[in-house]
Amino acid sequence: MPRFQFPEWTENFKKALGLLLAGGPVYLIAVIAYGVTPEAIRIGYQPEQPVPYSHALHVGELGLDCRYCHNTVEESPHSAIPPAATCMNCHTGIKAESDDLLPIRESASQNIAIEWVRVNDLPDYVYFNHSAHVTRGVGCESCHGRVDQMTKVFQAKALTMEWCLDCHRDPAPRLRPVEEVTTMGYDPDGDRRELGNEIMKQYNLNPRTDCSTCHR
Ligand code: HEC
Ligand code: HEC
Ligand code: HEC
Ligand code: HEC
Ligand code: HEC
Repeated sequence: MPRFQFPEWTENFKKALGLLLAGGPVYLIAVIAYGVTPEAIRIGYQPEQPVPYSHALHVGELGLDCRYCHNTVEESPHSAIPPAATCMNCHTGIKAESDDLLPIRESASQNIAIEWVRVNDLPDYVYFNHSAHVTRGVGCESCHGRVDQMTKVFQAKALTMEWCLDCHRDPAPRLRPVEEVTTMGYDPDGDRRELGNEIMKQYNLNPRTDCSTCHR
C-alpha cells in the first residue's frame, strides 16, 4: 500500500505559513511602530469646519485658482484664508438661501470673521514663509497634496523637520516653472530633475539648511 503523501501544494503552503509565522511579528512591530510615529498621526488630520466648504467642488469642478482666495500667498509668509466677502462674490446669487452658507452670510453682513479650524500648523518656534517657496517654483501640491480632490481639507504631509530638510537638500526634482505653482496634478514631459536644475539656475536657488533659516 503506497504511503499517503500530501500533495505538493501543501508543502508550499507550509513553507508560506512558516514564513508568515517567522516574519509576522517583525511585520506587526513595523506596523505598530509606524502607526505610532508622529508623522503617521499627523498625515490625514482633518478637523470639522464651521462651513462645509469643498475644494473638490470649487477648485476641482469650478476651476478656481488658489490665489482667487489665498491671495497673499505670493507676497507674504502667510497664505490668507479668504473673508466671507470673497465667497459672497458668488453666493449672493448662487445658493443664496442655503443653510450651509448661513454663517458666511452672517459673517459678511456683520463683519465677524469665520472661525476656520487650522489644519496645517507648525510649532511657534518654526519660521515658515509661503512667498519664499511659491515664487521659486515650489508648488502648493508639493506640501498640501491634491487639494483639488479634497471635499474637506486634510494635512497631506508630515511637516516634520526631516521633511523640510529632505527638500532643502535636494529641491531640483520637486521644482516646477513658477507659472505652474498652483497647478494640481502637475506632470511635465521629460526629466523632472533636468527641468528642476534649470529652474535652480534661473532663480539662483540654494535653500539653506542652517538652523537659523527656520528657527530664528
Ligand atoms: C473659493 C475660495 C478658495 C479657493 C479657490 C481655494 N481655497 Fe483653500 N481654503 C479656502 C477656505 C475657506 C479654507 C478654510 C476652510 C477649510 O479648511 O476648508 C481653505 C483652506 C485651505 C488649506 C488649509 C489651511 C490650513 O488651515 O492649514 C489649504 C492647504 C488650502 N486651502 C489650499 C488651497 C489650494 C492649494 C488651492 C488651489 C488648488 C485652494 N486652497 C483654493 C478657500 C479657498
Ligand atoms: C466663483 C464662484 C464661487 C465662489 C467665489 C464661491 N463659491 Fe461656493 N459654490 C459655487 C457654486 C457654483 C456652487 C454649486 C452650486 C450648486 O450646487 O448648484 C457652490 C456651492 C457651495 C456650497 C454648497 C452649498 C449647498 O447648499 O449646496 C458651499 C457650502 C459653498 N459653496 C461655500 C463657499 C465658501 C465658504 C466660499 C468662500 C470661501 C465659496 N463657496 C466661494 C460658487 C462659488
Ligand atoms: C514648502 C511647502 C509649502 C508650499 C509650497 C505651500 N504651503 Fe501652504 N502651508 C505650508 C505649511 C508648513 C503651513 C503651516 C504654516 C504654519 O503653521 O506656520 C501652510 C499653511 C497654509 C495655509 C493656512 C494659513 C497659513 O498661512 O498658515 C493655507 C491657506 C495654505 N498653506 C495654502 C497654500 C497655497 C494656496 C499654496 C500654493 C499657492 C501653498 N500653501 C504652498 C507649507 C506649504
Ligand atoms: C519641496 C521643496 C521644499 C520643501 C518641502 C520646503 N522647502 Fe523651504 N525652500 C525651498 C526652496 C526651493 C527655497 C528657496 C531657496 C532660495 O531662494 O534659494 C526655500 C526657502 C525656505 C526659507 C527661506 C526663506 C527666506 O526668508 O530666505 C525658509 C525659512 C524655508 N524654506 C523654510 C521651510 C520649512 C520650515 C519647511 C518645512 C515646513 C520647508 N521650507 C519645506 C524648498 C522647500
Ligand atoms: C528647513 C527648516 C528647518 C531647518 C533648517 C532646521 N529645522 Fe529644526 N525644525 C523644523 C521644523 C519644521 C520643526 C518642527 C518639527 C515638528 O513639528 O515635528 C523643527 C523642530 C526642531 C526641534 C524640536 C524637536 C524636534 O526634533 O521636533 C529642534 C530641537 C530643532 N528643530 C533643532 C534644529 C537645529 C539644531 C537645526 C540646525 C542643525 C535645525 N533645527 C534646522 C525645521 C527646520
